[in-house]
Parts: sequence; C-alpha cells; structure tokens
Amino acid sequence: MITIEGITQMRGVSRKAREEGKLIALVPTMGFFHEGHLSLIRKARKVGDLVVVSSFVNPSQFGPGEDYGAYPREPERDRTLAEENGTDVLFSPSIEEMYPQGYSTWVEVEGLTEVLCGRSRPGHFRGVTTVVTKLFHIVQPHYAIFGQKDYQQAQVIKRMVDDLNFDLRILVEPTVREPDGLAMSSRNLYLTPAERKDTVILYPSLLRAQELVQEGERDAGRISDMIRKMIADVERAEIDYVSIVDGENLRPISQLKGKVLIALAVKIGKARLIDNILLSVDE
Ligand code: PAJ
Repeated sequence: MITIEGITQMRGVSRKAREEGKLIALVPTMGFFHEGHLSLIRKARKVGDLVVVSSFVNPSQFGPGEDYGAYPREPERDRTLAEENGTDVLFSPSIEEMYPQGYSTWVEVEGLTEVLCGRSRPGHFRGVTTVVTKLFHIVQPHYAIFGQKDYQQAQVIKRMVDDLNFDLRILVEPTVREPDGLAMSSRNLYLTPAERKDTVILYPSLLRAQELVQEGERDAGRISDMIRKMIADVERAEIDYVSIVDGENLRPISQLKGKVLIALAVKIGKARLIDNILLSVDE
C-alpha cells in the first residue's frame, strides 16, 4: 500500500492504472476506521483492480457548532487497517490542497437534500457533494462504494452522478452493526457508558416497525408513532426525526408501498446518531 497526499501524484497513479486497463474502486471516508468502513474497502477489493481509499475530514460538510474540531482522527491505526483490508492507495490530501485560498465552487443537489438530515444540517450535503465531486475528478474511479447507514447521502450522490453524467457506478453496501445492533459510527465514540446503553433502543425500534409491516400494518403515522414511543422511553434520547419516506425520492408517504425507507436521527448526549431500514412492501 502507498500513501499519497498530493493531488497531482494521485492523478498520476490513476492515469497509469487506467492506461493499463485496470478498474479503479474508490472508498471515500473521513478516516477513523471501523468495520463499516472496512466492509466497503473489502467490497472495493472484490470489484476493483486498484483500490483507493480517501481519508479526508471535510470541513465544508460540518456546520457551525458541529464537531469538526473534535472529529476523531487516528491516522496510524487507519493505515494499518486500510492495508490489512486490501487498500492499494490511501489518499489523504491536506485541507490547503483541497480548498486553496480563493476556493469558491460548490456542487448542490436540490430536493433530496432538503429532507431528513438536510433539515437539521443546512449546507451539509453541499459540502458532501462538493468534496465527492472533487474526489471523483482526482481519482477517476470506475466504482465508488458507500454505506447504507448514510442512505440519504448515497441517494444524493447517485442523483448527482446521473445529473452531472459522471462515468462511474455507485455501489451501496449494508450497514455494519455492533453485536447489540447499534450501527457503527465514528461518532459512537462521543457516548458515555450510560448513553451507550441508551442507544440499544434504536435498532430494535426499526426492527419492531418492520415486524408491524410484516403483520400487515401499512399506515406510516401509526408506525412512526410506535417508533417515537419506544425511543421516548429513553430519557436522554432527543428525537431529531423519525420519518417514513419513499426509498427513491425520499418524500414522506402516508401508506407504505414499494420501496420504503424508515429513517431516524436521535441525539443522545453529544452524539447525533442516524439509522435506517429499507423495506420492500407489497400491497
Ligand atoms: P464517513 O462517515 O467516514 O463514512 C465513509 C463511508 O462509510 C460512507 O459511505 C458511510 O456510509 C460508510 N459507513 C459509515 N458507517 C457505516 C456502517 N456502520 N456500515 C456501513 N457503512 C458505513 O460519509 C462520509 O464519511 C463523508 O460524508 C464522505 C462521503 C467521505 C464525504 O466527506
């Protein structure tokens, strides 16, 4: 594995790989790897000949008052894990190179970014789509791999790739969970032991929703009420949203039908946790 910091050098490696007819698979990350990231790297290893993992804590996707400064970083450990899981190139550019003085260009997807996490994190997705566009131009991948944990992010990026005619395929991999069901996230680190215990309600509330649907419930209001009640039992949990939406356009639905996303964002202590399940509902 090689580590590259410069954009020019990264471009050179990608150009050479393409000339040799190699397929490039990119996994964009902000580092501080856990099993979720590693599962994406292993997927990249399966589909690509050259596996590039980018690690860049992107300041433009953090709002004022969010955790940019506190975001965990552990580059040495990341290097070992990246290599062990099949990375060829670890690309970790500096902020100065990604956003030099005078930087003023932004990529914005409308509609999909205005719901769910977009409501409480204005500007977040603009930062994500901008940095991902830059990474796509620099790395020139054939495949880019994202996690279902950030379902909205993956949908927004797919939309952008279609709309702006990027010549690559987006793959979305399942959410990797802790043994008790909590979706793995770098931000779980912010939880105190008592708060960590409180998180155990989140995934079961989604599984209970799935059970209700299996038993025949199709009313979105009743299902989201049930989820809210389960979460409200945990004193420290502050619900940002519990939403049942169309799995493609992310618009709220009242009756469950077809591809349905049940998604939630809950603040526990300093951590804002998100999770979701995707259901295929017949009438
Ligand atoms: P980050 O939070 O580091 O996540 C990198 C990738 O790992 C994303 O595609 C995310 O969906 C995926 N991921 C995170 N937790 C996961 C889990 N438990 N199971 C499966 N996949 C998981 O998402 C970002 O970084 C940034 O917004 C980025 C796309 C890199 C742009 O800066």
